[in-house]
Amino acid sequence: MKNTIKILAAAIVIISVVSCQNDKKPNYQYMPNMYESVGYETYGEYRVFPGEQEAMQPVEGSIPRGWMPYDFENSNAGYQLAKDTLKNPIKYTKENEAAGMQLYTIYCAICHGDKGDGKGTLVQREKILGVPSYDDVGRAITEGSIYHVMYYGINSMGSYASQTNEHERWQIVQYVEKLKADLEGKEPRIDQEKGPAPSNLIPAVNKRPEEEEQHATTEEHKDAH
Ligand code: HEC
Repeated sequence: MKNTIKILAAAIVIISVVSCQNDKKPNYQYMPNMYESVGYETYGEYRVFPGEQEAMQPVEGSIPRGWMPYDFENSNAGYQLAKDTLKNPIKYTKENEAAGMQLYTIYCAICHGDKGDGKGTLVQREKILGVPSYDDVGRAITEGSIYHVMYYGINSMGSYASQTNEHERWQIVQYVEKLKADLEGKEPRIDQEKGPAPSNLIPAVNKRPEEEEQHATTEEHKDAH
């Protein structure tokens, strides 16, 4: 008898709990602070923020990580200033030249041609007009102007600022300068590596620590005898 009452009581409790559930409304939250954290959630809606949005515009003048501001304006004056004053910060090594060549082949050769003479595939197929040769005397391109046009684009040539990073653009600049030198029949610039001459390096590289140790032990042997 007692048992029947217990079972009945339990059944009433369970039924009343289950029957109150409404599928169209959010269910009860037994420990709400586990669902709704005290800290602001990314993209959450809160009254304290302008527009009630947690996600806000970065403060004016913020710079994304790994990105450097480019100080030259997208204008004729900015172009001229870059042309006259902006210098390539990377060393003109064979490695940078090879990396520049790869990037150039991907991004530029389709219009400017493998030799930089302005006779790329798109020009031959008459898809685009007015692609200059890099040795065009009237344009007299410089390392600064090459970088500038890659950054902002120029007329029908688009910007390459989003496809390439700063270092890659400077590698392309080195390669474009090499193509220009080749077209003009000049020697392309390659910077001399600084540092000790290779002959100084060889003994240091060949000397192995074990040899020194062996030496020390034979010395000890001698002393012992
Ligand atoms: C879609 C075709 C196209 C591609 C791709 C292209 N260019 Fe150009 N480029 C042009 C055209 C067209 C001009 C001439 C623009 C003008 O002055 O009217 C030009 C001009 C130039 C100039 C001369 C600008 C000056 O100072 O007068 C340089 C340097 C240059 N491009 C470099 C590059 C480099 C580097 C790349 C690859 C990152 C590239 N271009 C990719 C079409 C292209």
